[in-house]
Amino acid sequence: MLPFSVHPPLLYSLISTPAFCSAGQPSSSAKGVATIIFSLKNEVGSLVRALRLFQEKHVNLVHIESRKSKRKNSDFEIFVDCDTDHEQLKELTQLLRTHTDVVEITPFGNSSLPDDGRPSGFTMREPGLPWFPKKISDLDRSANRVLMYGSDLEHNVYLKRRKYFADLAMSYKLGDPILRVDFTTEEVRTWGVVFKELKKLYPSHACKEYLKNLPLLTEYCGYSEDNIPQLEDVSHFLKDRSGFIIRPVAGYLSPRDFLAGLAFRVFHCTQYVRHSSKPLYTPEPDTCHELLGHVPLLAEPSFAQYSQEIGIASLGASDDAVKKLATCYFFTVEFGLCKQDGRLRAYGAGLLSSISELKHALSGRANILPFDPVVTCNQECIITTFQDVYFVSESFEDAKNKMREFARTIWRPFTVRYNPYTQSMDVLKDTNSINKVWVGISGLDGLGIKVMGL
Ligand SMILES: [Fe+2]
Repeated sequence: MLPFSVHPPLLYSLISTPAFCSAGQPSSSAKGVATIIFSLKNEVGSLVRALRLFQEKHVNLVHIESRKSKRKNSDFEIFVDCDTDHEQLKELTQLLRTHTDVVEITPFGNSSLPDDGRPSGFTMREPGLPWFPKKISDLDRSANRVLMYGSDLEHNVYLKRRKYFADLAMSYKLGDPILRVDFTTEEVRTWGVVFKELKKLYPSHACKEYLKNLPLLTEYCGYSEDNIPQLEDVSHFLKDRSGFIIRPVAGYLSPRDFLAGLAFRVFHCTQYVRHSSKPLYTPEPDTCHELLGHVPLLAEPSFAQYSQEIGIASLGASDDAVKKLATCYFFTVEFGLCKQDGRLRAYGAGLLSSISELKHALSGRANILPFDPVVTCNQECIITTFQDVYFVSESFEDAKNKMREFARTIWRPFTVRYNPYTQSMDVLKDTNSINKVWVGISGLDGLGIKVMGL
Protein backbone atom coordinates (compact mmCIF):
# COMPACT_ATOMS: atom_id res chain seq x y z
CA MET A 1 0.00 0.00 0.00
CA LEU A 2 1.20 3.48 -0.74
CA PRO A 3 0.99 6.44 1.61
CA PHE A 4 -0.60 8.56 -1.11
CA SER A 5 -2.62 8.39 -4.25
CA VAL A 6 -1.13 8.53 -7.67
CA HIS A 7 -2.86 9.06 -10.94
CA PRO A 8 -3.42 6.18 -13.37
CA PRO A 9 -1.29 7.39 -16.25
CA LEU A 10 1.76 7.99 -14.16
CA LEU A 11 1.61 4.71 -12.34
CA TYR A 12 1.11 2.91 -15.60
CA SER A 13 4.08 4.64 -17.15
CA LEU A 14 6.29 3.19 -14.47
CA ILE A 15 5.18 -0.40 -14.79
CA SER A 16 4.75 -0.97 -18.46
CA THR A 17 5.95 0.08 -21.85
CA PRO A 18 3.37 2.39 -23.36
CA ALA A 19 2.35 2.11 -26.98
CA PHE A 20 4.28 4.46 -29.21
CA CYS A 21 2.93 6.19 -32.26
CA SER A 22 5.70 7.48 -34.47
CA ALA A 23 5.16 10.96 -35.82
CA GLY A 24 7.54 10.34 -38.70
CA GLN A 25 6.68 9.57 -42.27
CA PRO A 26 5.57 5.95 -42.69
CA SER A 27 7.53 3.53 -44.77
CA SER A 28 7.23 -0.20 -45.24
CA SER A 29 10.41 -0.84 -43.23
CA ALA A 30 9.81 1.73 -40.47
CA LYS A 31 9.33 -0.01 -37.13
CA GLY A 32 7.15 1.01 -34.26
CA VAL A 33 4.75 -0.31 -31.66
CA ALA A 34 1.30 -1.28 -32.91
CA THR A 35 -1.64 -2.19 -30.73
CA ILE A 36 -3.96 -5.06 -31.62
CA ILE A 37 -7.08 -6.15 -29.79
CA PHE A 38 -8.65 -9.46 -30.75
CA SER A 39 -11.27 -11.64 -29.12
CA LEU A 40 -11.25 -15.35 -28.36
CA LYS A 41 -13.59 -18.10 -27.27
CA ASN A 42 -12.78 -19.68 -23.93
CA GLU A 43 -11.32 -22.84 -25.43
CA VAL A 44 -8.23 -24.73 -24.39
CA GLY A 45 -5.23 -23.55 -26.41
CA SER A 46 -6.99 -20.69 -28.21
CA LEU A 47 -4.59 -18.04 -26.89
CA VAL A 48 -1.54 -20.17 -27.62
CA ARG A 49 -2.72 -20.71 -31.19
CA ALA A 50 -3.23 -16.96 -31.65
CA LEU A 51 0.18 -16.09 -30.21
CA ARG A 52 1.87 -18.58 -32.50
CA LEU A 53 0.78 -16.36 -35.38
CA PHE A 54 2.92 -13.56 -33.95
CA GLN A 55 5.84 -15.96 -33.68
CA GLU A 56 5.26 -17.18 -37.21
CA LYS A 57 5.53 -13.61 -38.52
CA HIS A 58 8.54 -12.85 -36.25
CA VAL A 59 6.61 -10.11 -34.47
CA ASN A 60 7.92 -9.34 -31.00
CA LEU A 61 5.34 -8.79 -28.23
CA VAL A 62 5.99 -5.79 -25.99
CA HIS A 63 2.95 -6.06 -23.75
CA ILE A 64 -0.02 -8.40 -23.46
CA GLU A 65 -3.05 -8.71 -21.22
CA SER A 66 -6.56 -10.06 -21.27
CA ARG A 67 -9.95 -8.92 -20.14
CA LYS A 68 -13.44 -10.34 -20.32
CA SER A 69 -15.30 -9.50 -23.47
CA LYS A 70 -18.69 -7.85 -23.60
CA ARG A 71 -19.17 -8.97 -27.20
CA LYS A 72 -21.38 -11.72 -28.40
CA ASN A 73 -19.60 -14.86 -29.59
CA SER A 74 -16.44 -14.18 -27.62
CA ASP A 75 -15.32 -14.68 -24.04
CA PHE A 76 -12.04 -12.77 -23.81
CA GLU A 77 -10.34 -9.84 -25.45
CA ILE A 78 -6.58 -9.90 -25.78
CA PHE A 79 -4.73 -6.59 -25.85
CA VAL A 80 -1.29 -6.77 -27.44
CA ASP A 81 1.41 -4.17 -28.09
CA CYS A 82 3.89 -5.49 -30.61
CA ASP A 83 7.08 -4.24 -32.18
CA THR A 84 6.60 -4.45 -35.91
CA ASP A 85 6.86 -2.73 -39.28
CA HIS A 86 4.12 -2.01 -41.81
CA GLU A 87 4.69 -5.08 -43.96
CA GLN A 88 4.81 -7.43 -40.97
CA LEU A 89 1.70 -5.85 -39.50
CA LYS A 90 -0.19 -6.18 -42.76
CA GLU A 91 0.64 -9.89 -43.02
CA LEU A 92 -0.04 -10.52 -39.35
CA THR A 93 -3.40 -8.77 -39.58
CA GLN A 94 -4.50 -10.94 -42.49
CA LEU A 95 -3.42 -14.07 -40.65
CA LEU A 96 -5.07 -13.04 -37.37
CA ARG A 97 -8.37 -12.40 -39.14
CA THR A 98 -8.46 -15.98 -40.35
CA HIS A 99 -8.05 -17.34 -36.80
CA THR A 100 -9.54 -14.74 -34.43
CA ASP A 101 -12.04 -11.93 -34.36
CA VAL A 102 -9.93 -8.78 -34.61
CA VAL A 103 -11.57 -5.96 -32.68
CA GLU A 104 -9.18 -3.08 -33.31
CA ILE A 105 -5.77 -2.36 -34.75
CA THR A 106 -3.84 0.78 -33.97
CA PRO A 107 -0.73 0.91 -36.12
CA PHE A 108 1.83 3.70 -35.93
CA GLY A 109 1.41 6.63 -38.31
CA ASN A 110 -0.09 4.19 -40.79
CA SER A 111 -1.63 4.80 -44.17
CA SER A 112 -0.80 1.65 -46.05
CA LEU A 113 -3.04 -1.04 -44.60
CA PRO A 114 -5.73 -2.38 -46.93
CA ASP A 115 -9.18 -0.80 -46.77
CA ASP A 116 -11.03 -3.95 -47.78
CA GLY A 117 -12.22 -6.19 -45.00
CA ARG A 118 -11.52 -3.54 -42.39
CA PRO A 119 -13.43 -4.53 -39.28
CA SER A 120 -15.74 -2.14 -37.50
CA GLY A 121 -13.73 0.03 -35.10
CA PHE A 122 -10.57 -0.03 -37.17
CA THR A 123 -8.62 3.17 -36.66
CA MET A 124 -8.61 5.24 -39.85
CA ARG A 125 -5.64 7.56 -40.18
CA GLU A 126 -4.56 10.50 -42.19
CA PRO A 127 -1.46 9.70 -44.23
CA GLY A 128 1.71 10.55 -42.34
CA LEU A 129 0.05 11.36 -39.03
CA PRO A 130 -0.26 9.24 -35.91
CA TRP A 131 -3.79 8.71 -34.76
CA PHE A 132 -5.07 10.86 -31.94
CA PRO A 133 -8.57 12.01 -31.05
CA LYS A 134 -9.63 14.88 -33.31
CA LYS A 135 -13.03 15.44 -31.76
CA ILE A 136 -14.38 14.93 -28.29
CA SER A 137 -16.49 11.91 -29.29
CA ASP A 138 -13.28 10.15 -30.40
CA LEU A 139 -12.56 9.69 -26.69
CA ASP A 140 -15.22 6.95 -26.73
CA ARG A 141 -12.64 4.93 -28.63
CA SER A 142 -9.76 5.42 -26.23
CA ALA A 143 -11.52 5.71 -22.86
CA ASN A 144 -12.01 1.96 -22.58
CA ARG A 145 -8.43 1.08 -23.51
CA VAL A 146 -8.00 0.42 -19.85
CA LEU A 147 -4.83 -1.45 -19.23
CA MET A 148 -5.22 -2.41 -15.59
CA TYR A 149 -8.77 -2.71 -14.43
CA GLY A 150 -8.26 -6.35 -13.64
CA SER A 151 -10.11 -9.31 -15.07
CA ASP A 152 -10.36 -11.10 -11.74
CA LEU A 153 -12.55 -8.68 -9.84
CA GLU A 154 -14.92 -11.33 -8.55
CA HIS A 155 -13.01 -12.95 -5.73
CA ASN A 156 -14.53 -11.21 -2.74
CA VAL A 157 -17.17 -8.66 -1.84
CA TYR A 158 -14.90 -5.65 -2.35
CA LEU A 159 -13.63 -6.81 -5.72
CA LYS A 160 -17.14 -7.59 -6.87
CA ARG A 161 -18.04 -4.02 -5.99
CA ARG A 162 -15.04 -2.78 -7.97
CA LYS A 163 -16.25 -4.79 -10.93
CA TYR A 164 -19.62 -3.03 -10.66
CA PHE A 165 -17.87 0.34 -11.03
CA ALA A 166 -15.66 -0.98 -13.83
CA ASP A 167 -18.72 -2.14 -15.76
CA LEU A 168 -20.41 1.23 -15.29
CA ALA A 169 -17.41 3.01 -16.74
CA MET A 170 -16.91 0.57 -19.61
CA SER A 171 -20.48 1.06 -20.81
CA TYR A 172 -20.31 4.87 -20.68
CA LYS A 173 -20.48 6.92 -23.90
CA LEU A 174 -20.01 10.65 -24.38
CA GLY A 175 -23.25 12.49 -23.67
CA ASP A 176 -24.66 9.81 -21.37
CA PRO A 177 -25.59 10.97 -17.89
CA ILE A 178 -23.17 9.47 -15.37
CA LEU A 179 -25.14 6.89 -13.45
CA ARG A 180 -25.90 7.88 -9.87
CA VAL A 181 -24.39 5.38 -7.47
CA ASP A 182 -26.10 4.20 -4.33
CA PHE A 183 -22.99 4.11 -2.16
CA THR A 184 -22.98 1.61 0.70
CA THR A 185 -22.83 2.64 4.35
CA GLU A 186 -19.28 1.32 4.51
CA GLU A 187 -18.21 3.37 1.47
CA VAL A 188 -19.73 6.54 2.92
CA ARG A 189 -18.01 5.90 6.24
CA THR A 190 -14.64 5.47 4.48
CA TRP A 191 -15.12 8.67 2.49
CA GLY A 192 -16.17 10.46 5.70
CA VAL A 193 -12.98 9.52 7.52
CA VAL A 194 -10.82 10.83 4.66
CA PHE A 195 -12.84 14.01 4.22
CA LYS A 196 -12.92 14.82 7.93
CA GLU A 197 -9.16 14.44 8.42
CA LEU A 198 -8.20 16.36 5.29
CA LYS A 199 -10.58 19.22 6.05
CA LYS A 200 -8.60 19.92 9.20
CA LEU A 201 -5.46 20.47 7.13
CA TYR A 202 -6.84 22.45 4.21
CA PRO A 203 -7.00 25.93 5.85
CA SER A 204 -3.26 25.83 6.59
CA HIS A 205 -2.05 23.72 3.65
CA ALA A 206 -4.27 24.19 0.55
CA CYS A 207 -3.92 27.01 -1.97
CA LYS A 208 -6.52 29.77 -1.91
CA GLU A 209 -8.17 28.62 -5.16
CA TYR A 210 -8.85 25.29 -3.49
CA LEU A 211 -10.22 26.99 -0.37
CA LYS A 212 -12.47 29.17 -2.52
CA ASN A 213 -13.95 26.27 -4.48
CA LEU A 214 -14.45 23.66 -1.77
CA PRO A 215 -17.39 25.51 -0.13
CA LEU A 216 -19.01 25.85 -3.56
CA LEU A 217 -18.75 22.10 -4.02
CA THR A 218 -20.38 21.65 -0.63
CA GLU A 219 -23.21 23.92 -1.71
CA TYR A 220 -23.77 22.64 -5.25
CA CYS A 221 -22.55 19.05 -5.24
CA GLY A 222 -23.21 17.88 -1.70
CA TYR A 223 -19.64 17.56 -0.44
CA SER A 224 -19.96 16.51 3.20
CA GLU A 225 -18.68 13.89 5.61
CA ASP A 226 -21.83 11.80 5.28
CA ASN A 227 -22.33 12.07 1.52
CA ILE A 228 -20.17 11.02 -1.40
CA PRO A 229 -20.82 13.47 -4.24
CA GLN A 230 -22.17 12.08 -7.50
CA LEU A 231 -19.91 12.46 -10.55
CA GLU A 232 -22.88 13.65 -12.62
CA ASP A 233 -23.40 16.65 -10.32
CA VAL A 234 -19.68 17.35 -10.20
CA SER A 235 -19.43 17.22 -13.99
CA HIS A 236 -22.23 19.78 -14.37
CA PHE A 237 -20.58 22.01 -11.79
CA LEU A 238 -17.22 21.89 -13.54
CA LYS A 239 -18.81 22.50 -16.93
CA ASP A 240 -20.30 25.73 -15.60
CA ARG A 241 -17.11 26.87 -13.88
CA SER A 242 -14.31 25.92 -16.27
CA GLY A 243 -15.70 23.91 -19.17
CA PHE A 244 -14.29 20.62 -17.89
CA ILE A 245 -16.49 17.53 -17.79
CA ILE A 246 -16.02 14.22 -15.99
CA ARG A 247 -15.83 10.92 -17.76
CA PRO A 248 -15.94 7.75 -15.62
CA VAL A 249 -13.07 5.34 -16.23
CA ALA A 250 -12.63 1.72 -15.17
CA GLY A 251 -8.94 1.87 -14.31
CA TYR A 252 -5.55 2.75 -15.67
CA LEU A 253 -5.27 4.58 -18.96
CA SER A 254 -1.98 5.06 -20.72
CA PRO A 255 -0.43 8.54 -20.24
CA ARG A 256 -1.19 9.26 -23.89
CA ASP A 257 -4.89 8.44 -23.58
CA PHE A 258 -5.27 10.26 -20.28
CA LEU A 259 -3.55 13.44 -21.48
CA ALA A 260 -5.60 13.32 -24.70
CA GLY A 261 -8.74 13.62 -22.57
CA LEU A 262 -7.41 16.81 -20.98
CA ALA A 263 -6.95 18.30 -24.44
CA PHE A 264 -10.76 18.29 -24.79
CA ARG A 265 -11.34 19.36 -21.18
CA VAL A 266 -12.41 15.85 -20.27
CA PHE A 267 -11.19 14.45 -16.98
CA HIS A 268 -11.17 10.66 -16.72
CA CYS A 269 -12.29 9.86 -13.22
CA THR A 270 -12.54 6.71 -11.10
CA GLN A 271 -15.77 6.23 -9.15
CA TYR A 272 -14.99 3.43 -6.69
CA VAL A 273 -14.04 3.97 -3.03
CA ARG A 274 -10.82 2.65 -1.52
CA HIS A 275 -10.96 -0.40 0.78
CA SER A 276 -12.47 0.40 4.18
CA SER A 277 -9.72 -1.37 6.14
CA LYS A 278 -7.26 1.48 5.50
CA PRO A 279 -9.19 4.65 4.78
CA LEU A 280 -6.10 6.88 4.95
CA TYR A 281 -4.02 4.76 2.56
CA THR A 282 -4.67 3.74 -1.00
CA PRO A 283 -2.48 2.04 -3.57
CA GLU A 284 -4.33 3.69 -6.45
CA PRO A 285 -6.60 6.63 -7.16
CA ASP A 286 -10.20 6.36 -6.03
CA THR A 287 -13.13 8.71 -5.87
CA CYS A 288 -11.76 10.32 -2.67
CA HIS A 289 -8.61 11.26 -4.56
CA GLU A 290 -10.52 12.53 -7.59
CA LEU A 291 -13.20 14.46 -5.72
CA LEU A 292 -11.02 15.94 -2.97
CA GLY A 293 -7.74 16.20 -4.85
CA HIS A 294 -8.61 17.12 -8.44
CA VAL A 295 -12.10 18.55 -8.66
CA PRO A 296 -11.69 21.76 -6.60
CA LEU A 297 -8.78 22.86 -8.81
CA LEU A 298 -10.39 21.76 -12.08
CA ALA A 299 -13.14 24.27 -11.25
CA GLU A 300 -10.54 27.06 -11.50
CA PRO A 301 -10.37 28.46 -15.08
CA SER A 302 -6.63 29.19 -15.02
CA PHE A 303 -5.85 25.69 -13.74
CA ALA A 304 -8.25 24.16 -16.27
CA GLN A 305 -6.43 25.92 -19.07
CA TYR A 306 -3.07 24.75 -17.79
CA SER A 307 -4.35 21.16 -17.75
CA GLN A 308 -5.79 21.45 -21.25
CA GLU A 309 -2.58 22.86 -22.69
CA ILE A 310 -0.56 19.90 -21.41
CA GLY A 311 -3.14 17.68 -23.07
CA ILE A 312 -2.98 19.51 -26.40
CA ALA A 313 0.81 19.39 -26.39
CA SER A 314 0.64 15.60 -26.07
CA LEU A 315 -1.55 14.94 -29.12
CA GLY A 316 0.44 13.06 -31.73
CA ALA A 317 3.70 13.69 -29.85
CA SER A 318 6.43 11.06 -29.60
CA ASP A 319 6.51 8.60 -26.72
CA ASP A 320 9.47 10.42 -25.19
CA ALA A 321 7.65 13.75 -25.37
CA VAL A 322 4.50 12.26 -23.82
CA LYS A 323 6.60 10.86 -20.99
CA LYS A 324 8.12 14.29 -20.31
CA LEU A 325 4.72 15.96 -20.39
CA ALA A 326 3.29 13.28 -18.09
CA THR A 327 6.16 13.85 -15.65
CA CYS A 328 5.49 17.60 -15.63
CA TYR A 329 1.82 16.80 -15.07
CA PHE A 330 2.81 14.54 -12.16
CA PHE A 331 4.88 17.20 -10.42
CA THR A 332 2.31 19.96 -10.92
CA VAL A 333 -1.26 18.67 -11.14
CA GLU A 334 -0.53 15.76 -8.78
CA PHE A 335 2.22 17.06 -6.47
CA GLY A 336 2.55 20.77 -7.20
CA LEU A 337 3.19 23.53 -4.69
CA CYS A 338 2.74 27.26 -5.11
CA LYS A 339 3.68 30.40 -3.19
CA GLN A 340 0.85 32.49 -1.82
CA ASP A 341 1.20 35.43 0.57
CA GLY A 342 4.78 34.41 1.24
CA ARG A 343 3.86 30.84 2.21
CA LEU A 344 4.00 27.50 0.51
CA ARG A 345 0.64 25.98 -0.34
CA ALA A 346 -0.37 22.77 -2.08
CA TYR A 347 -2.38 22.55 -5.27
CA GLY A 348 -1.43 19.01 -6.37
CA ALA A 349 -4.21 16.43 -6.07
CA GLY A 350 -1.86 13.72 -4.79
CA LEU A 351 -1.03 16.00 -1.87
CA LEU A 352 -4.51 17.34 -1.24
CA SER A 353 -5.88 13.81 -0.93
CA SER A 354 -3.11 12.42 1.30
CA ILE A 355 -2.88 13.49 4.93
CA SER A 356 0.64 12.22 5.52
CA GLU A 357 2.22 13.54 2.33
CA LEU A 358 0.42 16.89 2.57
CA LYS A 359 1.93 17.37 6.03
CA HIS A 360 5.34 16.21 4.83
CA ALA A 361 5.50 18.45 1.76
CA LEU A 362 4.87 21.57 3.83
CA SER A 363 6.80 20.49 6.93
CA GLY A 364 9.94 22.44 6.07
CA ARG A 365 11.86 19.17 5.74
CA ALA A 366 10.94 18.39 2.13
CA ASN A 367 13.28 19.18 -0.74
CA ILE A 368 11.67 21.94 -2.83
CA LEU A 369 12.82 23.35 -6.17
CA PRO A 370 11.40 25.98 -8.53
CA PHE A 371 9.18 24.48 -11.23
CA ASP A 372 11.13 24.38 -14.48
CA PRO A 373 9.75 21.93 -17.07
CA VAL A 374 13.24 21.35 -18.53
CA VAL A 375 14.43 20.10 -15.12
CA THR A 376 11.14 18.72 -13.83
CA CYS A 377 10.52 16.50 -16.86
CA ASN A 378 13.55 14.40 -15.91
CA GLN A 379 12.69 13.98 -12.24
CA GLU A 380 11.89 10.46 -11.11
CA CYS A 381 8.23 9.90 -10.20
CA ILE A 382 8.13 7.88 -6.99
CA ILE A 383 5.11 5.75 -6.22
CA THR A 384 6.28 3.78 -3.19
CA THR A 385 6.91 6.62 -0.77
CA PHE A 386 6.97 10.43 -0.66
CA GLN A 387 8.55 12.30 -3.55
CA ASP A 388 12.26 13.13 -3.29
CA VAL A 389 11.49 16.65 -4.42
CA TYR A 390 8.50 18.93 -4.93
CA PHE A 391 8.34 21.78 -7.42
CA VAL A 392 6.94 25.18 -6.58
CA SER A 393 5.33 27.59 -9.06
CA GLU A 394 4.70 31.29 -8.54
CA SER A 395 1.16 30.83 -9.88
CA PHE A 396 -0.82 28.74 -12.38
CA GLU A 397 -0.21 31.50 -14.90
CA ASP A 398 3.52 31.19 -14.32
CA ALA A 399 3.37 27.40 -14.63
CA LYS A 400 1.30 27.68 -17.81
CA ASN A 401 3.74 30.10 -19.44
CA LYS A 402 6.67 27.83 -18.63
CA MET A 403 4.83 24.81 -19.99
CA ARG A 404 3.95 26.74 -23.17
CA GLU A 405 7.61 27.53 -23.73
CA PHE A 406 8.53 23.92 -23.06
CA ALA A 407 5.82 22.63 -25.39
CA ARG A 408 7.23 24.79 -28.19
CA THR A 409 10.45 22.77 -28.00
CA ILE A 410 8.57 19.51 -28.65
CA TRP A 411 8.86 18.74 -32.32
CA ARG A 412 5.82 17.60 -34.26
CA PRO A 413 5.39 17.70 -38.04
CA PHE A 414 2.12 19.57 -37.52
CA THR A 415 0.37 21.67 -34.95
CA VAL A 416 -3.11 21.44 -33.52
CA ARG A 417 -5.60 24.13 -32.64
CA TYR A 418 -8.57 23.48 -30.37
CA ASN A 419 -11.88 24.68 -31.72
CA PRO A 420 -14.14 25.18 -28.67
CA TYR A 421 -17.24 25.66 -30.82
CA THR A 422 -17.04 22.16 -32.23
CA GLN A 423 -14.92 20.63 -29.44
CA SER A 424 -12.53 19.35 -32.04
CA MET A 425 -8.89 19.73 -33.05
CA ASP A 426 -7.87 21.39 -36.27
CA VAL A 427 -4.67 19.77 -37.50
CA LEU A 428 -2.37 22.20 -39.27
CA LYS A 429 0.22 20.42 -41.33
CA ASP A 430 0.46 22.42 -44.54
CA THR A 431 -0.41 25.87 -45.82
CA ASN A 432 -3.79 24.69 -47.18
CA SER A 433 -4.98 23.40 -43.83
CA ILE A 434 -3.73 26.55 -42.09
CA ASN A 435 -5.58 28.79 -44.54
CA LYS A 436 -8.75 26.70 -44.11
CA VAL A 437 -8.63 27.05 -40.35
CA TRP A 438 -7.87 30.77 -40.37
CA VAL A 439 -10.69 31.47 -42.80
CA GLY A 440 -13.07 29.35 -40.72
CA ILE A 441 -12.24 30.40 -37.19
CA SER A 442 -10.22 33.60 -37.38
CA GLY A 443 -10.28 35.33 -34.05
CA LEU A 444 -9.89 32.27 -31.82
CA ASP A 445 -7.04 32.45 -29.39
CA GLY A 446 -4.26 30.09 -30.42
CA LEU A 447 -3.44 27.14 -28.23
CA GLY A 448 -1.32 25.38 -30.80
CA ILE A 449 2.33 24.66 -30.78
CA LYS A 450 4.74 26.22 -33.25
CA VAL A 451 4.26 24.90 -36.77
CA MET A 452 7.38 22.99 -37.69
CA GLY A 453 8.72 22.35 -41.14
CA LEU A 454 6.51 24.82 -43.00
FE1 LIG B 1 -4.71 12.02 -9.78
